[in-house]
This record gives sequence, structure tokens and C-alpha cells, in this order.
Amino acid sequence: KEMKIGIDKIGFFTSHLFVDMKELAFARAEDPNKYLIGIGQSKMAVIPPSQDVVTMAANAAARILTTADKEQISYVIFATESGIDNSKATAVYLARLLGLKKEIRAIELKQACYGATAGIQLARGFVALNPDSKVLVIAADNARYGIKSPGEPTQGGGAVALLIGTNPQILALEDGSTAYTQDIMDFWRPLGKNEALVDGRYSEDVYLNFFSHVWQAYLDKTGYQLGDFAALLFHLPYTKMGLKALRIALKDARPDEAVNFVQEFEHARTFNREVGNLYTGSLYLSLLSLLFNSEKLRAGQRIGLFSYGSGAEAEFYSGIVQPNFKQGLMNVNYLQVLNERQEVSVSEYEKLYQQHLFSAQEGRVAYDTDPARYFFAGISDFKRQYQEK
Ligand code: CAA
Repeated sequence: KEMKIGIDKIGFFTSHLFVDMKELAFARAEDPNKYLIGIGQSKMAVIPPSQDVVTMAANAAARILTTADKEQISYVIFATESGIDNSKATAVYLARLLGLKKEIRAIELKQACYGATAGIQLARGFVALNPDSKVLVIAADNARYGIKSPGEPTQGGGAVALLIGTNPQILALEDGSTAYTQDIMDFWRPLGKNEALVDGRYSEDVYLNFFSHVWQAYLDKTGYQLGDFAALLFHLPYTKMGLKALRIALKDARPDEAVNFVQEFEHARTFNREVGNLYTGSLYLSLLSLLFNSEKLRAGQRIGLFSYGSGAEAEFYSGIVQPNFKQGLMNVNYLQVLNERQEVSVSEYEKLYQQHLFSAQEGRVAYDTDPARYFFAGISDFKRQYQEK
């Protein structure tokens, strides 16, 4: 019998602060419906200067890892495009904060929002060769485009922690994924810049072209049809983007089939609507959102995942939902977590945005009001200071 490998647990963390998209629209003299419907976002996570990708990853992983998991983890793969050092990997700080064993490998991966998918596929291969091991894959980012930039309403941030192992509780990965890479300048962040540069409309076109390509290639390769899937998930830089890709997939669907996919898509974008872009974590927040919110999802069903990273790289793959998928969320009530966040005004968000410390700066960061377990206290002697409450 073939060994099942896949996602055993998922944990998610975002900050305790958000800005309401209606308020942001008023401040920017835009019609609120442009953001609520046109972009498809209701709230945007505001990442305070006391959180960075390492602390967000630690806070996400702490929600799912038991002592037994920590013993079994022998590889930490940290995917981010919000790196904090050109040499040292975020995964090394993370492994120490979480109290993982020292007999492990810990590395960082980068390819824009595609990074975590590469991490999952690497983890799958590693587990196939080392079935007693578990791999912790992290997708963590702080999506920054700049105040008053066109990308501003598509910011956000947070971390998703994925535990990969044999006999997974949530999703068993299938063979046959299709990948596509082409050197394209749709979105990038040159060294030394703290905000991404983006050719917005072009990036949408590339995203949709890459989706059409890997989706069709996947159907050709596997022989599956739309009806073989219970839901399709997408990288969601903002939720309207996924809807545009879904419409491509549904262009020849029967009406009843289409209704089901649209309903599941609504469940899959519920949390992303409330948080904004996580960059590499967005697809996996959408997976969590579907698992948490769908009433129809059943063990044995197939879901398809479309991963996209600007620059550009895409992959389509699938997995089979496992009987214990709800247990894999470790009883965290994410609706409550999101509802208990505090709203900040647009001017407060702008202030927090400016207060972030980057790479070679020195200084302390205010963290007293940050309720998270792990936080960033500042930089001294060019060394980042991480602490636990
Ligand atoms: N009511 C309803 N809808 C409205 C509206 C209203 N009152 N006013 C405007 N809209 C609609 C528009 O019709 C448009 O819809 P369509 O896309 O369906 O045409 C939508 O709102 C957005 O309006 P604009 O096109 O005028 O918006 P914009 O020019 O200000 O910028 C954007 C939109 C290009 C997405 C910009 O926010 C951006 O650059 N974002 C960052 C880049 C990005 O996320 N790209 C995605 C692909 S790349 C990727 O996925 C990787 C990644 O994570 C970055």
C-alpha cells in the first residue's frame, strides 16, 4: 500500500490589529465598494513593529506543535519574501524560539508567493525518504506596498505553519503536479527596498495566464476533469484575484457544478478577506479558511491548489481530504481570533507602518501592547532581539 504523505496540521497567526477597508477607502477618496467588491477585501491586518516574519511564524507554529511533534521535526523550511538577513536563515531563529532539537536542518526559501509550495514539495520528498520525520514548513510575510500606492489596499501579513508527515490528518498530496517558470518583471523588491515594486495590471494578467497554463497541463497530465474536484483554491493576493481565476476554470462548467465551486470559494476566501495578503501564506490561509468554514467538505474529496509567485512561477497540485481534517486545526477558533482583533484608525496604521525597523537599522521597538507570545524587541549591535512572554 502506498504511503500517504501530506499536511498533518495547519496553524495560522496574524497580528491583533486591523484597519477597516471602508475607512481606508474614505481616507483615500475611493468608493468603499472598490475595495469591498472590486478588490474583495473587508479588513487589512496591520502588522505592528513588534512582529516580523520570525515572530509571526513562531506564534503560528506554537498553535499546533505538541512536545511529540517537536521531537519528530527534523527539518524546518521557512518560505518568505520578507527576509530579515541576507545570510542567516529565519528558520534558525525560529527553531530556537520553538525549542526544537538541535539535530535538525533549518533553511530559508524564496520565490515570491510561491515559496511555501516549493517548501511543501521538498518536504514531501524528504518525508518519502525519511518516513519517521516531520517537516515544519512556514509561510510568513509582511505585505508592504507603500502608503497611498495602488497596492496599498492589498497589503496584510501573517504566518501559516504546516506540519508535513506520513498519514496526515488533513490532506494527502497526490502525484502529477504541474509547474511553470518564466522570467517576468511583474512584482519584485530590489535589495535595500522595504516595499515591493509592482506592475499591478500586468501582474494580474501574468497570474491568470499562468493559471490557465498549469491548470490545463494538470488536467491533460492526470486525466481529471473539473467534476473530479470538490473545491479549487488559489493564491489570494486579494480575494477578487482568485475569483477571476475561478471563472476561467468554470467557463465550460454546468450551472449546478459552478454553484458548488463558487460556494466553496466563498468559504475559502472568508479569512483572506479579513486579513489581506500574506504573500506566500495566502494560498494556505485560504486552505485553512475552506477547512474551517465549509459545511460540505468530506473525507475522500479532492481539492486543487493553485500557487503563484511573481517573477514568475506557478504550480497546480491536488490533495485528498483526510478523515481527521478538523483535528488537524488543533481546536483553534479562528473566527474568534479574527473577531477579537482591535481596529486602528488609518492615521494609526500609517504611524505603525513607518515605525518598522529594517535590516541594518538600530533601535528598540515598543512591544508592551502586543499580546502575542513571541515578539521582536529591536536591533542592537545589528543583532535582532526576539523574546517570549
Ligand atoms: N464598485 C465595485 N467595483 C469597483 C468599484 C466600485 N465602486 N470601483 C472600482 N471597482 C473595481 C474595478 O472595476 C476593478 O475590477 P476588475 O479588476 O474586475 O476590473 C477593481 O475594482 C480594481 O480597480 P482598479 O483596477 O481601478 O484598481 P487599481 O488600478 O487601483 O489597482 C491592483 C488594483 C492592480 C490590484 C492594485 O491593487 C495592485 O497593484 N495590487 C498589488 C499587485 C497584486 O496583488 N497583483 C496580483 C497578481 S501578482 C500576485 O498574485 C503575487 C502577489 O501576491 C503580489
